[in-house]
Amino acid sequence: MSPTGLPPIGTDLAHAAALLSRGRLVAIPTETVYGLAANALDPAAVARIFAAKDRPFFDPLIVHVASLAAAQALVTELPPVALQLAQRHWPGPLTLVLPRRAVVPDLVTAGGPFVALRVPAHPMALALLQQLPFPLAAPSANPFGRTSPTTPQHVREGLGARVDYILDGGPCAVGLESTIVGVTRSATGADELLIYRWGGLELETLIKDTPCAWRMAERPQDAAPGNLPGHYAPRTPLRLGPPPADADPARTGVMVFTAGEWPATASWPHRRVLAPDGQLSTAAQQLFAALRALDALGQSGALDVIYAAPVPEHGLGRAINDRLQRAAASHR
Ligand code: TXA
Ligand code: MG
Repeated sequence: MSPTGLPPIGTDLAHAAALLSRGRLVAIPTETVYGLAANALDPAAVARIFAAKDRPFFDPLIVHVASLAAAQALVTELPPVALQLAQRHWPGPLTLVLPRRAVVPDLVTAGGPFVALRVPAHPMALALLQQLPFPLAAPSANPFGRTSPTTPQHVREGLGARVDYILDGGPCAVGLESTIVGVTRSATGADELLIYRWGGLELETLIKDTPCAWRMAERPQDAAPGNLPGHYAPRTPLRLGPPPADADPARTGVMVFTAGEWPATASWPHRRVLAPDGQLSTAAQQLFAALRALDALGQSGALDVIYAAPVPEHGLGRAINDRLQRAAASHR
Protein backbone atom coordinates (compact mmCIF):
# COMPACT_ATOMS: atom_id res chain seq x y z
CA MET A 1 0.00 0.00 0.00
CA SER A 2 1.16 3.56 -0.68
CA PRO A 3 1.48 6.19 2.11
CA THR A 4 -1.90 7.62 1.06
CA GLY A 5 -3.64 4.36 2.00
CA LEU A 6 -4.59 3.81 -1.61
CA PRO A 7 -3.28 0.80 -3.51
CA PRO A 8 -0.49 1.53 -5.98
CA ILE A 9 -1.33 1.42 -9.69
CA GLY A 10 1.51 0.16 -11.88
CA THR A 11 2.75 -2.21 -14.53
CA ASP A 12 5.13 -4.34 -12.45
CA LEU A 13 4.22 -7.92 -13.38
CA ALA A 14 6.92 -9.43 -11.15
CA HIS A 15 5.55 -7.54 -8.15
CA ALA A 16 2.00 -8.67 -8.99
CA ALA A 17 3.16 -12.27 -9.31
CA ALA A 18 5.01 -12.08 -5.98
CA LEU A 19 1.94 -10.72 -4.18
CA LEU A 20 -0.32 -13.38 -5.71
CA SER A 21 2.14 -16.10 -4.73
CA ARG A 22 1.83 -14.89 -1.13
CA GLY A 23 -1.96 -15.16 -1.22
CA ARG A 24 -2.58 -11.43 -1.70
CA LEU A 25 -5.09 -9.68 -4.00
CA VAL A 26 -4.13 -7.96 -7.25
CA ALA A 27 -6.52 -6.23 -9.63
CA ILE A 28 -5.78 -7.29 -13.19
CA PRO A 29 -6.80 -5.85 -16.52
CA THR A 30 -8.75 -8.07 -18.89
CA GLU A 31 -10.35 -7.20 -22.21
CA THR A 32 -13.80 -7.26 -20.54
CA VAL A 33 -13.50 -5.55 -17.15
CA TYR A 34 -10.87 -5.42 -14.38
CA GLY A 35 -10.77 -8.53 -12.20
CA LEU A 36 -9.88 -8.89 -8.51
CA ALA A 37 -7.46 -11.80 -8.66
CA ALA A 38 -6.13 -14.33 -6.17
CA ASN A 39 -4.58 -17.79 -6.33
CA ALA A 40 -7.57 -19.95 -7.28
CA LEU A 41 -6.11 -23.04 -5.63
CA ASP A 42 -5.53 -21.37 -2.24
CA PRO A 43 -8.78 -21.21 -0.22
CA ALA A 44 -7.39 -18.57 2.15
CA ALA A 45 -6.50 -16.29 -0.77
CA VAL A 46 -9.90 -16.88 -2.38
CA ALA A 47 -11.61 -16.04 0.92
CA ARG A 48 -9.90 -12.63 0.79
CA ILE A 49 -11.68 -11.91 -2.51
CA PHE A 50 -15.08 -12.49 -0.90
CA ALA A 51 -14.14 -10.27 2.04
CA ALA A 52 -12.80 -7.46 -0.15
CA LYS A 53 -15.96 -7.38 -2.27
CA ASP A 54 -18.48 -8.13 0.51
CA ARG A 55 -19.52 -10.92 -1.78
CA PRO A 56 -21.79 -13.70 -0.47
CA PHE A 57 -20.22 -17.16 -0.53
CA PHE A 58 -23.07 -18.59 -2.61
CA ASP A 59 -21.77 -16.66 -5.63
CA PRO A 60 -19.02 -18.68 -7.38
CA LEU A 61 -15.96 -17.18 -9.09
CA ILE A 62 -14.57 -17.38 -12.61
CA VAL A 63 -11.13 -19.02 -12.83
CA HIS A 64 -8.71 -17.47 -15.32
CA VAL A 65 -6.13 -19.66 -17.02
CA ALA A 66 -3.34 -19.11 -19.56
CA SER A 67 -4.44 -21.75 -22.06
CA LEU A 68 -6.88 -24.46 -23.00
CA ALA A 69 -4.42 -27.02 -21.61
CA ALA A 70 -4.45 -25.24 -18.25
CA ALA A 71 -8.27 -25.29 -18.30
CA GLN A 72 -8.28 -29.01 -19.03
CA ALA A 73 -6.24 -29.63 -15.89
CA LEU A 74 -9.16 -28.25 -13.83
CA VAL A 75 -12.07 -30.17 -15.36
CA THR A 76 -13.11 -33.82 -15.57
CA GLU A 77 -14.83 -33.49 -18.90
CA LEU A 78 -14.72 -31.22 -21.94
CA PRO A 79 -17.70 -31.95 -24.20
CA PRO A 80 -16.80 -31.65 -27.91
CA VAL A 81 -18.92 -28.52 -28.32
CA ALA A 82 -17.14 -26.84 -25.38
CA LEU A 83 -13.77 -27.79 -26.86
CA GLN A 84 -14.79 -26.27 -30.16
CA LEU A 85 -15.95 -23.04 -28.48
CA ALA A 86 -12.75 -22.81 -26.44
CA GLN A 87 -10.58 -23.33 -29.51
CA ARG A 88 -12.50 -20.70 -31.39
CA HIS A 89 -12.98 -18.00 -28.77
CA TRP A 90 -10.09 -18.26 -26.30
CA PRO A 91 -8.40 -16.01 -25.47
CA GLY A 92 -11.59 -13.96 -25.39
CA PRO A 93 -14.75 -12.86 -23.58
CA LEU A 94 -16.21 -16.38 -23.23
CA THR A 95 -16.52 -18.23 -19.91
CA LEU A 96 -17.25 -21.97 -20.03
CA VAL A 97 -18.95 -23.74 -17.12
CA LEU A 98 -17.57 -27.30 -16.89
CA PRO A 99 -17.44 -30.21 -14.41
CA ARG A 100 -14.66 -29.44 -11.96
CA ARG A 101 -11.82 -31.54 -10.62
CA ALA A 102 -11.33 -31.88 -6.88
CA VAL A 103 -8.27 -29.60 -7.02
CA VAL A 104 -10.62 -26.59 -7.43
CA PRO A 105 -11.58 -25.40 -3.92
CA ASP A 106 -15.25 -25.48 -2.87
CA LEU A 107 -15.11 -21.77 -2.18
CA VAL A 108 -14.44 -21.07 -5.87
CA THR A 109 -17.46 -23.04 -7.10
CA ALA A 110 -19.74 -22.23 -4.14
CA GLY A 111 -19.65 -25.93 -3.37
CA GLY A 112 -21.11 -26.87 -6.74
CA PRO A 113 -19.87 -29.49 -9.20
CA PHE A 114 -19.04 -26.98 -11.97
CA VAL A 115 -16.23 -24.48 -12.41
CA ALA A 116 -16.39 -21.40 -14.65
CA LEU A 117 -13.23 -20.95 -16.75
CA ARG A 118 -11.84 -18.49 -19.23
CA VAL A 119 -8.63 -17.41 -20.96
CA PRO A 120 -8.63 -13.59 -20.97
CA ALA A 121 -7.50 -11.73 -24.08
CA HIS A 122 -5.34 -9.06 -22.48
CA PRO A 123 -1.57 -9.27 -23.00
CA MET A 124 -0.81 -8.26 -19.42
CA ALA A 125 -3.23 -10.79 -17.90
CA LEU A 126 -1.89 -13.51 -20.17
CA ALA A 127 1.73 -12.68 -19.37
CA LEU A 128 0.94 -12.81 -15.66
CA LEU A 129 -0.92 -16.14 -15.95
CA GLN A 130 1.97 -17.61 -17.92
CA GLN A 131 4.40 -16.67 -15.13
CA LEU A 132 2.31 -18.19 -12.34
CA PRO A 133 2.21 -21.85 -11.39
CA PHE A 134 -1.50 -21.53 -10.45
CA PRO A 135 -4.71 -20.17 -12.06
CA LEU A 136 -6.39 -16.95 -10.90
CA ALA A 137 -9.88 -16.69 -9.47
CA ALA A 138 -11.14 -13.22 -10.38
CA PRO A 139 -14.58 -11.65 -10.12
CA SER A 140 -15.05 -8.11 -11.39
CA ALA A 141 -13.02 -5.77 -9.16
CA ASN A 142 -15.93 -3.85 -7.62
CA PRO A 143 -17.84 -4.06 -4.34
CA PHE A 144 -20.59 -6.70 -4.67
CA GLY A 145 -23.60 -5.48 -6.63
CA ARG A 146 -21.94 -2.31 -7.93
CA THR A 147 -20.83 -1.22 -11.40
CA SER A 148 -17.90 -3.17 -12.88
CA PRO A 149 -14.59 -1.30 -13.31
CA THR A 150 -13.11 -0.64 -16.75
CA THR A 151 -10.09 1.45 -15.62
CA PRO A 152 -7.53 1.16 -12.78
CA GLN A 153 -9.02 4.33 -11.24
CA HIS A 154 -12.46 2.70 -11.06
CA VAL A 155 -10.91 -0.17 -9.10
CA ARG A 156 -9.20 2.22 -6.72
CA GLU A 157 -12.41 4.19 -6.15
CA GLY A 158 -14.41 1.06 -5.39
CA LEU A 159 -12.03 -1.10 -3.38
CA GLY A 160 -9.39 1.28 -2.00
CA ALA A 161 -6.93 -0.42 0.34
CA ARG A 162 -8.82 -3.73 0.12
CA VAL A 163 -6.69 -4.57 -2.94
CA ASP A 164 -2.90 -4.79 -2.60
CA TYR A 165 -1.88 -3.71 -6.11
CA ILE A 166 -3.60 -2.64 -9.33
CA LEU A 167 -2.01 -3.66 -12.62
CA ASP A 168 -2.56 -0.91 -15.15
CA GLY A 169 -3.51 -2.29 -18.54
CA GLY A 170 -5.37 0.82 -19.70
CA PRO A 171 -9.12 1.06 -20.33
CA CYS A 172 -10.81 -2.27 -21.13
CA ALA A 173 -11.36 -2.81 -24.86
CA VAL A 174 -14.69 -4.67 -24.59
CA GLY A 175 -16.13 -3.00 -21.49
CA LEU A 176 -18.71 -5.72 -20.65
CA GLU A 177 -18.13 -8.91 -18.68
CA SER A 178 -17.72 -12.22 -20.49
CA THR A 179 -20.56 -14.29 -21.91
CA ILE A 180 -21.06 -17.33 -19.65
CA VAL A 181 -21.98 -20.64 -21.30
CA GLY A 182 -22.51 -24.18 -20.04
CA VAL A 183 -23.22 -27.36 -21.97
CA THR A 184 -26.18 -29.58 -21.17
CA ARG A 185 -27.98 -32.57 -22.73
CA SER A 186 -31.37 -31.91 -24.26
CA ALA A 187 -34.27 -34.39 -23.97
CA THR A 188 -33.23 -35.88 -27.32
CA GLY A 189 -29.67 -36.48 -26.09
CA ALA A 190 -28.07 -33.70 -28.14
CA ASP A 191 -25.66 -31.20 -26.58
CA GLU A 192 -27.25 -27.82 -25.91
CA LEU A 193 -25.66 -24.54 -24.87
CA LEU A 194 -26.92 -23.08 -21.62
CA ILE A 195 -26.46 -19.30 -21.50
CA TYR A 196 -25.93 -18.00 -17.95
CA ARG A 197 -25.10 -14.41 -18.87
CA TRP A 198 -24.89 -12.37 -22.03
CA GLY A 199 -21.62 -10.51 -22.31
CA GLY A 200 -18.76 -9.49 -24.53
CA LEU A 201 -19.16 -12.38 -26.96
CA GLU A 202 -22.32 -11.88 -29.01
CA LEU A 203 -24.81 -14.66 -29.64
CA GLU A 204 -24.29 -14.32 -33.40
CA THR A 205 -20.53 -14.99 -33.02
CA LEU A 206 -20.98 -17.67 -30.38
CA ILE A 207 -23.24 -19.90 -32.45
CA LYS A 208 -21.66 -19.19 -35.81
CA ASP A 209 -20.47 -22.53 -37.18
CA THR A 210 -21.51 -24.29 -33.97
CA PRO A 211 -24.38 -26.61 -34.89
CA CYS A 212 -25.95 -26.58 -31.49
CA ALA A 213 -29.19 -25.38 -29.92
CA TRP A 214 -29.04 -22.90 -27.05
CA ARG A 215 -31.31 -21.72 -24.26
CA MET A 216 -31.15 -19.34 -21.35
CA ALA A 217 -30.38 -20.80 -17.93
CA GLU A 218 -33.51 -20.67 -15.81
CA ARG A 219 -33.87 -19.81 -12.21
CA PRO A 220 -33.53 -21.20 -9.71
CA GLN A 221 -31.94 -24.51 -10.58
CA ASP A 222 -29.42 -23.50 -13.23
CA ALA A 223 -29.11 -19.72 -13.19
CA ALA A 224 -25.73 -18.13 -12.44
CA PRO A 225 -26.08 -17.52 -8.72
CA GLY A 226 -24.61 -14.02 -8.96
CA ASN A 227 -26.90 -12.89 -11.75
CA LEU A 228 -29.18 -10.96 -9.44
CA PRO A 229 -31.71 -8.40 -10.70
CA GLY A 230 -30.25 -5.53 -8.66
CA HIS A 231 -26.69 -5.86 -9.93
CA TYR A 232 -24.52 -3.10 -11.47
CA ALA A 233 -26.30 -0.63 -9.24
CA PRO A 234 -25.47 3.06 -9.33
CA ARG A 235 -26.46 4.92 -6.16
CA THR A 236 -28.42 7.47 -8.15
CA PRO A 237 -31.87 6.21 -9.26
CA LEU A 238 -31.71 4.92 -12.83
CA ARG A 239 -34.79 4.55 -15.05
CA LEU A 240 -35.13 3.09 -18.51
CA GLY A 241 -36.88 5.22 -21.10
CA PRO A 242 -37.13 8.95 -21.79
CA PRO A 243 -37.51 11.52 -19.01
CA PRO A 244 -41.03 12.88 -18.40
CA ALA A 245 -41.99 16.23 -19.96
CA ASP A 246 -41.72 18.07 -16.64
CA ALA A 247 -38.20 16.81 -15.80
CA ASP A 248 -35.71 19.49 -14.75
CA PRO A 249 -32.90 19.42 -17.37
CA ALA A 250 -30.39 20.80 -14.87
CA ARG A 251 -30.96 17.94 -12.41
CA THR A 252 -31.56 15.02 -14.76
CA GLY A 253 -28.89 12.73 -16.20
CA VAL A 254 -29.49 11.30 -19.65
CA MET A 255 -27.68 8.38 -21.31
CA VAL A 256 -28.49 7.68 -24.95
CA PHE A 257 -27.05 5.36 -27.58
CA THR A 258 -26.56 7.75 -30.51
CA ALA A 259 -26.41 11.54 -30.88
CA GLY A 260 -29.80 11.81 -32.59
CA GLU A 261 -31.70 10.01 -29.85
CA TRP A 262 -34.20 11.80 -27.57
CA PRO A 263 -33.74 15.15 -29.41
CA ALA A 264 -35.70 16.99 -26.69
CA THR A 265 -32.71 16.38 -24.38
CA ALA A 266 -30.03 17.35 -26.93
CA SER A 267 -28.92 20.47 -25.03
CA TRP A 268 -29.28 19.10 -21.50
CA PRO A 269 -26.08 19.57 -19.48
CA HIS A 270 -25.78 16.02 -18.11
CA ARG A 271 -26.27 14.05 -21.30
CA ARG A 272 -23.96 11.21 -22.37
CA VAL A 273 -23.92 9.73 -25.85
CA LEU A 274 -22.54 6.19 -25.59
CA ALA A 275 -21.74 5.69 -29.28
CA PRO A 276 -21.38 8.80 -31.46
CA ASP A 277 -20.32 6.35 -34.21
CA GLY A 278 -23.49 4.26 -33.81
CA GLN A 279 -21.52 1.08 -32.99
CA LEU A 280 -22.70 -1.23 -30.21
CA SER A 281 -19.05 -2.11 -29.47
CA THR A 282 -18.39 1.57 -28.69
CA ALA A 283 -21.46 1.72 -26.45
CA ALA A 284 -20.28 -1.41 -24.62
CA GLN A 285 -16.85 0.11 -24.05
CA GLN A 286 -18.33 3.37 -22.71
CA LEU A 287 -21.30 2.01 -20.73
CA PHE A 288 -19.84 1.54 -17.23
CA ALA A 289 -17.66 4.68 -17.35
CA ALA A 290 -20.68 6.79 -18.44
CA LEU A 291 -22.84 5.26 -15.72
CA ARG A 292 -20.16 5.99 -13.13
CA ALA A 293 -19.70 9.58 -14.29
CA LEU A 294 -23.43 10.31 -14.06
CA ASP A 295 -23.67 8.47 -10.75
CA ALA A 296 -20.81 10.59 -9.38
CA LEU A 297 -22.86 13.70 -10.21
CA GLY A 298 -25.83 12.14 -8.46
CA GLN A 299 -23.78 11.36 -5.38
CA SER A 300 -22.39 14.89 -5.28
CA GLY A 301 -25.97 16.21 -5.17
CA ALA A 302 -25.98 17.68 -8.68
CA LEU A 303 -28.48 15.17 -10.11
CA ASP A 304 -31.66 13.51 -8.84
CA VAL A 305 -32.14 10.77 -11.40
CA ILE A 306 -30.68 9.23 -14.56
CA TYR A 307 -32.74 8.21 -17.61
CA ALA A 308 -31.14 5.68 -19.98
CA ALA A 309 -32.21 4.59 -23.45
CA PRO A 310 -32.14 0.86 -24.20
CA VAL A 311 -29.96 0.00 -27.23
CA PRO A 312 -30.93 -2.21 -30.18
CA GLU A 313 -31.46 -5.79 -28.93
CA HIS A 314 -28.96 -7.61 -31.13
CA GLY A 315 -25.24 -8.40 -30.95
CA LEU A 316 -23.66 -6.74 -27.90
CA GLY A 317 -26.97 -4.90 -27.41
CA ARG A 318 -28.37 -7.91 -25.53
CA ALA A 319 -25.65 -7.65 -22.90
CA ILE A 320 -25.85 -3.84 -22.71
CA ASN A 321 -29.64 -3.93 -22.19
CA ASP A 322 -29.23 -6.69 -19.59
CA ARG A 323 -26.84 -4.50 -17.57
CA LEU A 324 -29.12 -1.46 -17.91
CA GLN A 325 -32.14 -3.47 -16.74
CA ARG A 326 -30.29 -4.84 -13.73
CA ALA A 327 -28.95 -1.39 -12.83
CA ALA A 328 -32.48 0.03 -13.05
CA ALA A 329 -34.01 -2.88 -11.09
CA SER A 330 -32.13 -1.93 -7.94
CA HIS A 331 -34.21 1.26 -7.72
CA ARG A 332 -37.69 -0.13 -8.26
O1 TXA B 1 -15.49 -10.81 -17.90
C1 TXA B 1 -15.66 -11.38 -16.84
O2 TXA B 1 -16.33 -12.43 -16.74
C2 TXA B 1 -15.03 -10.77 -15.60
C3 TXA B 1 -13.52 -10.75 -15.79
C4 TXA B 1 -12.77 -10.27 -14.59
O3 TXA B 1 -13.11 -12.02 -16.21
N1 TXA B 1 -15.41 -11.47 -14.41
C5 TXA B 1 -16.66 -11.38 -13.88
O4 TXA B 1 -16.80 -12.07 -12.69
O5 TXA B 1 -17.57 -10.76 -14.39
P1 TXA B 1 -18.04 -11.88 -11.71
O6 TXA B 1 -17.70 -12.68 -10.51
O7 TXA B 1 -18.30 -10.45 -11.51
O8 TXA B 1 -19.22 -12.57 -12.46
C6 TXA B 1 -19.14 -13.97 -12.66
C7 TXA B 1 -20.47 -14.58 -12.79
C8 TXA B 1 -21.30 -14.55 -11.51
O9 TXA B 1 -22.61 -14.15 -11.84
C9 TXA B 1 -21.27 -16.00 -11.05
O10 TXA B 1 -22.45 -16.34 -10.38
C10 TXA B 1 -21.11 -16.75 -12.34
O11 TXA B 1 -20.23 -15.95 -13.09
N2 TXA B 1 -20.48 -18.05 -12.14
C11 TXA B 1 -19.28 -18.32 -11.64
N3 TXA B 1 -19.07 -19.64 -11.54
C12 TXA B 1 -20.18 -20.23 -11.98
C13 TXA B 1 -20.60 -21.59 -12.10
N4 TXA B 1 -19.82 -22.59 -11.74
N5 TXA B 1 -21.83 -21.82 -12.62
C14 TXA B 1 -22.63 -20.80 -12.98
N6 TXA B 1 -22.29 -19.48 -12.87
C15 TXA B 1 -21.09 -19.21 -12.37
MG1 MG C 1 -19.32 -8.81 -11.21
